[in-house]
Amino acid sequence: MNITLSNVAPASFAADVVAVGVSSQGLARDPILARLNQATGGALMPYLKQEGFKAKEGQVLHMLGRGRLKAKRLTIVGLGDQAHSARTARILAVQAARAATSKASSLALVAHSLDDASLRSLAEGIMTGAYRYTRYLTGDRKPAHELKKATILIDGKPTPAARNSVADGQAVGESINFARDLVNCPPNDLSATRFAELAALEAKRFGVACKTFDKKGIAKLGMPLLLAVNRGSTEEPRFFHLSYKPTVAKAPKVAFVGKGLTFDSGGLCLKTADGMLDMKADMAGAAATVAIVLCAARLELPIEVHGVVASTDNMSGGDAYRPGDVFPSRDGKTVEIINTDAEGRLVLADALAYARELEPDYLIDHATLTGACLVALGSYRAALFSNDDGLLQAYQKAATTSGENVWPMPLDEDMRDQLKSSIADLKHTGSRYGGSITAALFLREFIGSCRWAHLDIAGPAFQSDNRITQPKGGTGFGVLTAVEFLSGLSKSDTTRAQSL
Ligand code: BES
Ligand code: MN
Ligand code: ZN
Repeated sequence: MNITLSNVAPASFAADVVAVGVSSQGLARDPILARLNQATGGALMPYLKQEGFKAKEGQVLHMLGRGRLKAKRLTIVGLGDQAHSARTARILAVQAARAATSKASSLALVAHSLDDASLRSLAEGIMTGAYRYTRYLTGDRKPAHELKKATILIDGKPTPAARNSVADGQAVGESINFARDLVNCPPNDLSATRFAELAALEAKRFGVACKTFDKKGIAKLGMPLLLAVNRGSTEEPRFFHLSYKPTVAKAPKVAFVGKGLTFDSGGLCLKTADGMLDMKADMAGAAATVAIVLCAARLELPIEVHGVVASTDNMSGGDAYRPGDVFPSRDGKTVEIINTDAEGRLVLADALAYARELEPDYLIDHATLTGACLVALGSYRAALFSNDDGLLQAYQKAATTSGENVWPMPLDEDMRDQLKSSIADLKHTGSRYGGSITAALFLREFIGSCRWAHLDIAGPAFQSDNRITQPKGGTGFGVLTAVEFLSGLSKSDTTRAQSL
């Protein structure tokens, strides 16, 4: 996609679609609408009224240009009753690009008097709004149109800062879309091996270092729990580590860790058919982790960023691990297996133990970890656990800015007893109640003395329908908030963040 800036007036800009966002208060007295109304010979405002357009958030209305506008079509996007912000810019861009992507090849967005942060969201929203996963469509199902060109219509001269914001936004959007592609890829085509290959290819493209370990390498490295989960599969596991180092000295160091289950059947504790259906998305945490490192590199953030991924599928082959088995872990603690469907925390335990050896200032994991998280918070919100109040607050703040929904959850000490085993150091599951909390408490056993945050993204990583700024299927949830968090870190302290 080619995104450029222009200061041509909206009514005079030639494109397949010109889109403009309107807030509900601004509907009657929006100066841009007034000028477009004039250009259409007074047709626009009565049309909005006739169609009952109230500018509700995400409401979209189309009108033909009919030669009165240079554009073939005008798209009006409702932004609700909020003031213009990075969030409303994103809504405008996602809705306009989503509506245009199957019909048009060029789109222009009206962005008068937007600040640079909003321009960045606008460019990011164009990329994520135009996203479709079409790899397996053939014949008529293959989209006839692809959005190739987007122009952001501003009222002044394009400044270098504005151009940078647009380029950054495009990089963020492309990173999110890369995560979505990985999540949407069917599990027969995305094995752990393939996942690692795709991550390494993309890392190379953006100058990010990538180390990959195959099954033998993983055994040598010492990851018994990852190997235990992999036992029921005919596919090899992969462990990979991406790292981006900025040119600045003494940059803060952040390590991200992702759960990379390319498919979770539950293993011997087999899931139901329904429960298995979306389990290709059980590597969404890993996909976000990879995308975060790539994005940090593309934005050249002054932060050292690592991405650590443990990947396998969870199958029930003849050599599958069993309830009652006991395995050592990378950390040394032994773990008694209770339920083979609680595999995510096992592969994460070894990956967290590896990542903490990097001595990061912050250790942050993303995982589609528990169904219990969906019960607690629903499908649109991630649970956020942390052992550090400063980190928790900074992450919540980043999520507010990004528009991704998170909610703080407690690491309740009195539930820790549930992880006591009579035969090993730890059991890996507790009771059904508070299942996302016991999962987090289990992970905490492997983080050493790191400042750590854990995001259980079981809900928002994969959606069953299009939502206002998220598509159906893989969403790339977590990337935007992480990039926001990293950007905030670089502003607050480029030497070494002691407290946030
Ligand atoms: N990958 C699942 C969690 C999940 C469920 C993610 C639904 C997205 C949608 C995880 O591996 C799992 O199966 N967790 C079990 C743990 C239980 C056996 C302690 C669960 O939540 O049921
Ligand atoms: Mn599972
Ligand atoms: Zn799982």
